[in-house]
Amino acid sequence: MLWEARFQVWLFLQLLWAAAVEAPEPGAEVPVVWAQEGAPAQLPCSPTIPLQDLSLPRTRQVTWQHVPESGSAAPTPRGPGPRRYTVLRLAPGGLRIGRLPLQSRVQLEETGLQRGDFSLWLRPARRADAGEYHAAVRFGNRALACRLRLRVGQAAVTASPPGPLWTSSWVVLNCSFSRPDLPASVHWFRGPGRVPVQESPHHHLVGNFLFLPRVSSLDSGTWGCSLTYRDGFIVSITYNLAVLDLEPRVPLTVYTGAGSKVELPCRLPPGVGIQSSLTAMWTPPRGGPDLLVAGDQGNFTLRLEAVGQAQAGTYTCCVHLQGRQLSATVTLAVITGQV
Ligand SMILES: *[C@@H]1O[C@H](CO)[C@@H](O)[C@H](O)[C@H]1NC(C)=O
Ligand SMILES: *[C@@H]1O[C@H](CO)[C@@H](O)[C@H](O)[C@H]1NC(C)=O
Repeated sequence: MLWEARFQVWLFLQLLWAAAVEAPEPGAEVPVVWAQEGAPAQLPCSPTIPLQDLSLPRTRQVTWQHVPESGSAAPTPRGPGPRRYTVLRLAPGGLRIGRLPLQSRVQLEETGLQRGDFSLWLRPARRADAGEYHAAVRFGNRALACRLRLRVGQAAVTASPPGPLWTSSWVVLNCSFSRPDLPASVHWFRGPGRVPVQESPHHHLVGNFLFLPRVSSLDSGTWGCSLTYRDGFIVSITYNLAVLDLEPRVPLTVYTGAGSKVELPCRLPPGVGIQSSLTAMWTPPRGGPDLLVAGDQGNFTLRLEAVGQAQAGTYTCCVHLQGRQLSATVTLAVITGQV
């Protein structure tokens, strides 16, 4: 009985202690600043009072300190619990960087300092940067103290199903950031030009998902999303979608002289491991009989001997693979020597 009672007290104290550690200081809500792992992060610190009449240079002193989040890799875990250490100190004589491992990633911006912005920049932010930050600033005869809690989240675009897709299959892209609240808005874009993706029969936007019901080789390339949160924080990430199709992907015209032999190309993209032996069915122009070409490591090139005008026209190469039909078209143009 006694043991049980003690255990309960111990549990109670554990809870109390946990609550005490978690709770912010009375009356002082520590503002939370979010960062994306691997992206630059700004830890803001500037006076709320306008600074027009202040002479900032030379007399400024800035000290940023970090108390790593318990459980994250503190620079020197000595004794229990996370320890506060100086990340960076700007003394009147010049810049003196704090200790490793932050060093080269940690910056104060000179242009910011001149405007009275003492923000600390992490380029890029890492998971171990999470925790509480304190800044002590002196400029002229004024002082400023800043305090914030940095939280570092991971952003990802995941595809379901993952990996390369065959043309005409579907895919769902999931844009996520490890933050408890939902983003206020989600935007999808394409390519380096960040062209916005709109709802269409080909693109369905649902929350932080993008559903592509039927991909084509035109969908190969970069897809990106940005999540905007209520506090103004924006996460932006990209995903490289690979859509496989028979090559040539766009209709090709092959020119040849009358009487010569010619090869009409048709092949699976290189690097696609195909276990079974495949055969392509070539449909010639003007409804001739289909021509079968056994694939040689995904190569279904059609060879024609001594071609004449009768063979000119558009050929279609069809391959059945994993329940879908892939096709490519090649046009043969025969040039005669007659003037
Ligand atoms: C979307 O991705 C996130 C992060 O990988 C994951 O936690 C979440 O379960 C995914 N959602 C769905 C519906 O797959
Ligand atoms: C495909 O096969 C043809 C002949 O069958 C050959 O000439 C051509 O070089 C091959 N293409 C590739 C990319 O291997």
